[in-house]
Amino acid sequence: MCGIVGIVGQTPVAPLIVDALKRLEYRGYDSAGVATVEKGELSRRRAEGKLVNLERRLEAEPLSGTIGIGHTRWATHGVPNETNAHPHFADEVAIVHNGIIENFAELRDELKRDGYVFQSQTDTEVVAHLIARELRGGAQPTEAAHNALKRLQGAFALAIMFKGDDDLIIGARNGPPLAVGHGQGEMYLGSDAIALAPFTNSITYLEDGDWAVVRRNKVQIFDIDGNPVKRQRQRSVGTSYLVDKGNHRHFMEKEIHEQPEVISHTLAHYLDFTSGKTREMDLPFDFAKLDRIAISACGTAYLAGLIGKYWFERYARLPVDIDIASEFRYREMPLGKKSAALFVSQSGETADTLASLRYCRSEGVPIGAIVNVRESTIARESHVTFPTLAGPEIGVASTKAFTCQLSVLASLAVRAAAERGTIDEGEEKRLVRQLSEAPRFASQVLKLEEQIEKVARELAKVNHVLYLGRDTSYPLALEGALKLKEISYIHAEGYAAGELKHGPIALIDENMPVIVIAPHDRIFEKTVSNMQEVAARGGRIILITDEAGAARAGIETFETIVLPDTPEFIAPIVYALPVQLLAYYTAVQMGTDVDQPRNLAKSVTVE
Ligand code: M6R
Repeated sequence: MCGIVGIVGQTPVAPLIVDALKRLEYRGYDSAGVATVEKGELSRRRAEGKLVNLERRLEAEPLSGTIGIGHTRWATHGVPNETNAHPHFADEVAIVHNGIIENFAELRDELKRDGYVFQSQTDTEVVAHLIARELRGGAQPTEAAHNALKRLQGAFALAIMFKGDDDLIIGARNGPPLAVGHGQGEMYLGSDAIALAPFTNSITYLEDGDWAVVRRNKVQIFDIDGNPVKRQRQRSVGTSYLVDKGNHRHFMEKEIHEQPEVISHTLAHYLDFTSGKTREMDLPFDFAKLDRIAISACGTAYLAGLIGKYWFERYARLPVDIDIASEFRYREMPLGKKSAALFVSQSGETADTLASLRYCRSEGVPIGAIVNVRESTIARESHVTFPTLAGPEIGVASTKAFTCQLSVLASLAVRAAAERGTIDEGEEKRLVRQLSEAPRFASQVLKLEEQIEKVARELAKVNHVLYLGRDTSYPLALEGALKLKEISYIHAEGYAAGELKHGPIALIDENMPVIVIAPHDRIFEKTVSNMQEVAARGGRIILITDEAGAARAGIETFETIVLPDTPEFIAPIVYALPVQLLAYYTAVQMGTDVDQPRNLAKSVTVE
C-alpha cells in the first residue's frame, strides 16, 4: 500500500518525484523518501511522517540527480521511522517497494549467513541485498535484478536504481500495480497513471511477473523467464489534478457535500430519466439466466455490496452471496455455470478484492466490477466495468464513493429485475423515478449539519458507541460504526437491531449512546421494540428517522434527527449522509487527522 515513483529525467528529478508522491500519498503516509544518483553516487533523503516532512528535508538539503526513485510508505514490516523509510540501499543498489515479500525471513537469514548486515526491519531490504550479492558475483545490473526477482515470493511493485548508472531504473510487478510512463527523452515509473499525469499520458501497465528496463530513450519489458514481451501502450485519462479542498476544512467534508452532484452523475450513467427506464448494458452475462451473484469487496465497499444484496434479492429475486474479499479468496467457493461475480472497489486496487476476482476468473465466471478508478487493475481485469462517477476521493474515509456504489448497485438491481421479469414496466419506472430523487434528498440532509454537529459534540465525550439498524439500515449501522472508528478512534459496533438481545444488550447503560437508523418502513415497529429495550436499560438513543418515524417512535430520545420522507428503496443512499456527518463532526471535535487517520491508507494493496 505504499506508493512508488521512478524518473529517468533531464533535469533534477527530486521535486518531480515529490510532486508525483503527493498524488500517491493516499497509498500511505507513515514516512517518505527520495534517492537520486549524483555524480555516480547514490544519495537519499528520508523523513518520518507525512510528505511535507520530506519536502522540508529536501529544502534544507536538496538532491540534484537527474535520475531518482521515491516512496511514500504504509508500514507493514518495521515501525514507521526514518530507518525503515524507503529507499533502502545495499552496496550499489537503491530500491523502493510496495507490497510484502512473504519469504523475506528465510532470505534475510540466508543473506545474514553470507555476511550481509541489515539496517532496517523491513522486508524490502532483502531485495536490495539479494541484488547487491548478484552484483558482487559479477552479474550486470539487469541480470542481477532478474536473478533476485526469481527468488521473491509475495506481492511487490519495485523500482531499482544503481550507483554509477544514471540511465537505468528497473521496475518489476507481481501483484500491486506499476505503470511505465513514456516521455520525450524521459521515462517514468509510478504506482498509478495519476502520479505520472503531469509528465505524460502515454502509459504501459506492467502485468504480473513483468519487469521493465527503463532508460531515457527506451523501455524494454520482460516476463519472469526473461523473455521480451509486448505490452500495449495506452492514453491515460488521468488528469494532473491535485484536487484542493475548496472552502472546506477537510477533503472528507468536501466529498460529503459533493454527493448530491456525483450521485446524480452516476445515476444518469445507468438510468434514462426521460423514458424512466434503465439504460441498455453490454453485459458478459444474462441477468435472466443467472441463478446467483457472488459479491465480494472490503470495508465500506463490502457494506455497499451488502446493501446491494437486499436489493438484488428483493427486486430481482436473484440470490446473492456476499463475502469480505479477504475471506472469499481462500474459501474456495464453488461457482456454478449460472453464476456471475461482482466486485466493488473505489480504488480498484485492493489486494484481497483483486485476488477474489482472479479466483472467479479462474473458475470461468463472468466478472463485473464497480470501480471509481477506471484504469485500475480491477477494472482492467473484469469483463465489464460499472463506473462510479464520484470523481477522485481523497479522504481516506470513503463517503461519496460509497453512495455512488449504492447508486450503481440499485440501478443494476432494477435492470436485473426488469430483465428477469420480476418487476413490470410500471414498477421499473417507479423505482427509476425514486432513484432520480436521491440527489435532492441528499441535498436536504446536508441542511441538517448544524444539528448533527451538536450531537457529535456529545459523541466526542464517550468511549463506545452502538449503531443499530434493520434490513438495509443494518449494513448502514455497520458503516456508521466503521466510519466513526476510522476517523475519531472511538470504539463503535454496528448490529442488526434484532440481534441486540442476543448479547450486545449487556453493554447498554446510561453511558452508552445508541444510534438507531430507522426510516419509517415496513419493519419500523420492530426496530421501535428494540429501541424500547435500549431505553428500558437507560441507553441514550439518537434516532435517525423521518417525520412519520419521529411521530410514531413513542420513545424519549436523546436526539432525533429527522430526514426527508424518503422512499424505502433509496433510503440507504440518503441515510448514509447523516451517518457520515456524525463521524466527521465527532472526529473534528476530537481533533484527529480526519483525511489521513492514523494507521490507515486509502488504497490497500497488501493482504
Ligand atoms: O478501494 P476500495 O473501495 O477497494 O477500498 C476498500 C476499503 O479499504 C475501504 O472502503 C475502507 O474501508 C474505507 N477507508 C472506509 O472508509
